[in-house]
Amino acid sequence: MAARLVIEGGRPLCGEMRVSAAKNAALPALCAALLTAEPVVLDNVPALADVVTARALLAGLGAAISDEADGGTRVIVRTLASHEAPYELVSTMRASVLVLGPLLARSGLARVALPGGCAIGVRPIDQHLKGLAKLGADIAIRNGYVEARASRLKGGRITSDLVTVTGTENLMMAAALAEGTTILENAAREPEVADLARLLGAMGARIEGAGTERIEIEGVAELGGARHRIIPDRIEAGTLLVAGAITGGDVTITDAAPRHLTATLAKLEECGAEIFVDRDRVRCRAPERPLAADIITNPFPGFPTDMQAQFMALLGVAEGHSKITETIFENRFMHAAELCRLGARIETDGATAVVRGVSAYQGAPVMATDLRASASLVLAGLAARGITEVSRVYHLDRGYERLEAKLASLGARIERVA
Ligand code: EPU
Repeated sequence: MAARLVIEGGRPLCGEMRVSAAKNAALPALCAALLTAEPVVLDNVPALADVVTARALLAGLGAAISDEADGGTRVIVRTLASHEAPYELVSTMRASVLVLGPLLARSGLARVALPGGCAIGVRPIDQHLKGLAKLGADIAIRNGYVEARASRLKGGRITSDLVTVTGTENLMMAAALAEGTTILENAAREPEVADLARLLGAMGARIEGAGTERIEIEGVAELGGARHRIIPDRIEAGTLLVAGAITGGDVTITDAAPRHLTATLAKLEECGAEIFVDRDRVRCRAPERPLAADIITNPFPGFPTDMQAQFMALLGVAEGHSKITETIFENRFMHAAELCRLGARIETDGATAVVRGVSAYQGAPVMATDLRASASLVLAGLAARGITEVSRVYHLDRGYERLEAKLASLGARIERVA
């Protein structure tokens, strides 16, 4: 049987916890190493299942990857050994599609399995492909694979139909080595996009405007090596703060980037928590009982879809009714039914969920369906009376570094059972 987490709920979480580096910044940073023959050293790469998958993917493409004594992860791709991201890896981790732009830009050829749908939505990559075609790539779909070719990509103006994070990252990496200037309009403004631009800049790319909706990239002939420290994980940070808020505790996160947390912190305050920010530290003192609040997910700087499930757990025990509207993914309420097994009263209808707060959850066995859904079940379990068993925790391990150990050192009774 796959690993489960057994949680004895009802204890307030208190104390300080360091935030790990961001999964969604580490994955594009690792893929960026494909753009150069020189070493790229990344500090602070989190120990996550998705990082293990990314390392396997890069190794298959010819990367030599080593862990330095000082904690850095060194990636060097002297020559490409392959141009293919195989289906086994893409189906395990959709972010594998981030090798498409770099492979095409470096060698003029890329073959990447189409990701297909997943637990939270259909998630097409049409905007990535449309953008690469604008840069002059020939794109064909054959036998479930995207095949992209170009002798040398040429800069162009790309206006995305919608805001896509990995789409923006793929195009930024491809354009960095294209001939001439590329303008990305309606670009994603997520901090992870800006972090990737900082790494590319250190490698010699000329990029302006990353972190805004208009990014200008002046292509260069070659990129070199660089050393880069990955930004803190704003979703892990938010998850730890909600763990304090939902248990009536008092949690301080350290090594965080509060400017990336504005929407999450504002919503915690609306729920009655007291928030204190001091440089890279954020303290969240829980209210007696959380207050209801309405949430609409949006691209950054709006409220992140990756925090929606965790807030649903919190609002489930709030005083009053809350409405949650999910605008990014069409099927991201799978956790609602599992939360109901713990006693929550949640009704979903298309993109909205109405949450009627109950006074407490009761422990029960529940099943995780995706990464952030697992986090919300763990949070609810921490607040529940009695024992909650969360199965399929491999979802959690994809994106949280030793979450149960972090929660345990804040006072949770939580154990991993094989
Ligand atoms: N979309 C398209 N066409 C495209 C690209 C996206 O229709 O070509 C749609 C998607 O189906 C979705 C919306 O646009 O409905 C936004 O998707 P986006 O491309 O921004 O998502 P992503 O890049 O695949 C990243 C994160 C996700 C996070 C989303 C939204 C990484 C590796 N993943 O995904 O993180 O939810 O942005 O912020 O950066 C997670 O960490 O749990 C996670 C799912």
